[in-house]
Amino acid sequence: MEFKESLKKYQDIVNKELEKYLRKEKCPEEILNNSMEYSLMAGGKRLRPILVLATYELFKEDYEECMPFAVAIEMIHNFSLIHDDLPEIDNDDFRHGKPTNHKQFNHATALLAGDGLLNQAYIVISDEIAYSAQNQYKECFENKVRIFNEFTKAVDRMIAGEYIDTELEGKQISKELLQYIHKNKTGALLKLCVRMGAILSGTKENHIEKLSIYADKIGLAFQIKDDILAEEGNSEITGKPVGNDKELGKCTYVSYYGLEGAKQELNKITDEAILVLKEYGEKAEFLRQLAVYIRDRQK
Ligand code: IPE
Ligand code: IPE
Ligand code: MG
Ligand code: MG
Repeated sequence: MEFKESLKKYQDIVNKELEKYLRKEKCPEEILNNSMEYSLMAGGKRLRPILVLATYELFKEDYEECMPFAVAIEMIHNFSLIHDDLPEIDNDDFRHGKPTNHKQFNHATALLAGDGLLNQAYIVISDEIAYSAQNQYKECFENKVRIFNEFTKAVDRMIAGEYIDTELEGKQISKELLQYIHKNKTGALLKLCVRMGAILSGTKENHIEKLSIYADKIGLAFQIKDDILAEEGNSEITGKPVGNDKELGKCTYVSYYGLEGAKQELNKITDEAILVLKEYGEKAEFLRQLAVYIRDRQK
């Protein structure tokens, strides 16, 4: 299957799964539920859940047991985006080509929709773990507890990265601190996705560690590309504003290295990510193409 076709297939699977968790009932908090759904179903690329499934499939078929974790991470991601767009953080009015959550609803609703998605992710995972505790596959249960633990810590790192990114606006920072921001605000969740897929598949530790290197590299590449698109992307394609990073004085790869320098770094890191997959041969073709997609994407 062509990469684009596989990507679409995965996106459809994830979207269908997410639909199951939408709260459609009539209730006093109906607008809050609508607001959570508005962001969750706004048209994200679903890169994080796809990474979970594709990594799992390197080692094992039938990704069904990954699904709750894949869904949970997309909820966390969307929580982070709703809060990231708030006036107190990036103050952005558009995402996915639509008004941001606080523009469509109001600030209180957006704050609580973010909180709601954050907590719903934990509900989904704890339900899955409780369910697994009742069946007899001990190893599978232990793997799920392990990734839940990693999950909580990755979310912690994402929040730390967002904090530093926001607090250091307009300041000159070192290369090390720039990397620290990217590693935490974006890299931690992407690395978690790869590790979740690998750990759930029951593969050996050396594979988990090797794939974590791939994950670190695509995580950094992903944010460098985000920085590049924020500078020279087409907002009709990205669906979000262009030029805002500069206006806010954000510390980005572009502000530090310049556009050309950032692109060179992006190319270098992408090549390194692909190299890590060498020993997995044909089976890793999708993950290889995904690294290229992250480098070349226009949205
Ligand atoms: C955007 O992430 C925010 C960052 C962490 C850089 P994505 O580009 O993966 O967001 P969507 O969900 O596909 O819009
Ligand atoms: C968002 O980073 C990262 C998180 C929400 C954790 P950015 O602020 O750089 O991403 P965009 O450009 O708004 O999507
Ligand atoms: Mg931000
Ligand atoms: Mg932002």
